[in-house]
Amino acid sequence: MAECLAPVRAKGMEKIMKIAYTIKEVREQVKAWRKEGLTVGLVPTMGYLHEGHASLMKKAVEENDRVVTSVFLNPTQFGPSEDLEAYPRDFEQDCRLCDSLGVSMVFHPEPEEMYAPDFCTWVNMEVLSSTLCGKSRSTHFRGVCTVVSKLFNIVTPDRAYFGQKDAQQLAIIRRMVRDLNMDIEIVGCPIVREEDGLAKSSRNTYLNEEERKAALVLSQSIFLGEKMVKEGETDAAKIKAAMTARIESEPLARIDYVEIVDGLSMQPVDTMQSPALAAIAVYIGKTRLIDNFII
Ligand code: PAF
Repeated sequence: MAECLAPVRAKGMEKIMKIAYTIKEVREQVKAWRKEGLTVGLVPTMGYLHEGHASLMKKAVEENDRVVTSVFLNPTQFGPSEDLEAYPRDFEQDCRLCDSLGVSMVFHPEPEEMYAPDFCTWVNMEVLSSTLCGKSRSTHFRGVCTVVSKLFNIVTPDRAYFGQKDAQQLAIIRRMVRDLNMDIEIVGCPIVREEDGLAKSSRNTYLNEEERKAALVLSQSIFLGEKMVKEGETDAAKIKAAMTARIESEPLARIDYVEIVDGLSMQPVDTMQSPALAAIAVYIGKTRLIDNFII
């Protein structure tokens, strides 16, 4: 399938969207763009792209001369009992979407291209990854930081785009870039929601009809917390309690966490003051979903 997809002609455009499978191809292409003095944006993804990803790519296309979207289901950020095997994939559809948005190159490496058999160098973040998702997914952010660093080294973008839905990931990547002096601007983009409020996620496809309805409890809890803050509530414990109660009212929901943390350090706070992040992770049946709001 891979061969017959490359290259794809961008509709109504002169450009050809390139599909690269190797690091060498990406480096050669980026080098050629650099010679022309062009700027490069990167949108890292794990594929099965939805409107949330589309919003990142649109912004990247607006702000850069060329955009690379990586489609790589990164094994190192999944724990042994997580959903790597079941994770949804549709590379052909992903390419169509990238093409329609004016992406210049899709980078779609095999795991062997990214990780040598004796791979043993990791980018590990302390403090920020000890709470929220990092608590229940102990090696997740090590995998994320490592693969994002590798993608940064391969593509050498001017800017890289990440969704606010993964708020902890975004904070961790910003900190990694600062701590390791990476010369890349990190652009965070707002959460994109379904009409009924559910945050867009590739994992929403796991939900059956009943679970899909039950999943609305996440955004309802987020909107409730936001409303309380808008109405002047600053006591984090009260906001947390109200959000928790709303989630617990749904029998199919099981809370992983409901937390209010400092938006930079990701450590719990007592008062809802900027920059604060209210973040939740909830199992609906077997599917773990996340959502958040920031102040
Ligand atoms: O947010 C994601 O899809 C992934 O964590 C990322 C940033 C592409 C790294 O694999």
